[in-house]
Order: sequence, then C-alpha cells, then structure tokens
Amino acid sequence: MKILGIIGLAAIALVACGHAEPKGESGPTGDPDFPNDYRQWHQVNDQTIVREDEGVAREIFANPQGDLGPGTVLVKEQYRYDGGAKGPLEFVGVMRRTGTGEAGGWSFQAFDPTTRQLLGKDSTACVGCHTLQADSDYLFSDRSALTR
Ligand code: HEC
Repeated sequence: MKILGIIGLAAIALVACGHAEPKGESGPTGDPDFPNDYRQWHQVNDQTIVREDEGVAREIFANPQGDLGPGTVLVKEQYRYDGGAKGPLEFVGVMRRTGTGEAGGWSFQAFDPTTRQLLGKDSTACVGCHTLQADSDYLFSDRSALTR
C-alpha cells in the first residue's frame, strides 16, 4: 500500500509538471501586441509628468531602437492622480511606427495594464489630440529625449 501511495504521488507530480507550461511574460491572456518588456526600455521623462488639471500622471518609455524610424515603439503609462499622489495605472498607451502615411505612420493602441488586453478605446481620440503635434512628428515629448 505504501509503495502504491508513493507511485500515486509520483504520478500526481508528473501530471503537475506536464501542465506547468513555461510562464511567458505576457501570461496566458496578454495580447500579442502588448510590449511586455517596456519597463526595461529607456525612460524618456526625468520626472513623473503630472497633469493636475486632468487628474493624471504619466511615464513615457521608448524602445531601444532610438531613431523614431519604422519599428519604433513608444509607451505612455497613464496613472490617475488624486490628492497630490499618483494613483492606479489606468492604461498603457502605445504608439508604434509602421511606416509613413496617416498620422505620420503611427498606430495608436491602449491596453489594460492588468490583463494586457487591448482596451476598446477609440484610437480616433489619440490621433485627434496627437495631431496637434503634426509638425513635430505627432509627438509631444522632446525629440531629443525620445531619440538616443
Ligand atoms: C488630450 C490629448 C491626448 C490624448 C487624447 C492622447 N494623448 Fe498621448 N500624449 C499626450 C501628451 C500631452 C503627451 C506628452 C506627455 C504629457 O506632457 O502629458 C502624450 C504622450 C504620448 C506618448 C509618448 C510619445 C509622445 O508623444 O510624447 C504616447 C506613446 C502616447 N501619448 C500614446 C497615446 C495613445 C495610445 C492615446 C490613445 C489611447 C493617446 N496617447 C491619447 C496627449 C494626448
């Protein structure tokens, strides 16, 4: 009986191992477009950007490419800002440069920071506001801070 018990345990251990899939950084449900490692990228802003009037705080990251050409990915973390303090992370905004064309060749997406899934946010609003910066490549941050 004792031996059977051990075999039983071994069998359970084997089954458990069989199901332990390597945990990808994106987790089981992350969108393939979510930039999993963006926090290891170059941080563009020196200090947290606080927009008290909008009640938000922002951190900005740029992927290692550093030339703003096609392949560039920029991330804007948008936090709530309330009572003088940074609150929860609301969404992870992504600008991905695919080439040239509409909106300077940037595509805009917003992700849920927890599930890493695409949010249903309408990218027209992103483009609408960033179009104010059409003369600066649709970018608000200083070009010198975004490139390296
Ligand atoms: C009402 C205006 C507005 C809207 C709407 C907006 N942004 Fe921005 N975005 C900004 C500003 C301003 C900055 C620079 C940070 C700052 O000064 O707050 C910025 C910065 C960024 C950056 C970093 C590159 C840069 O331009 O400095 C990314 C990436 C970004 N936004 C993505 C998005 C995405 C994705 C959306 C839509 C989900 C979006 N933004 C909607 C105003 C806007």
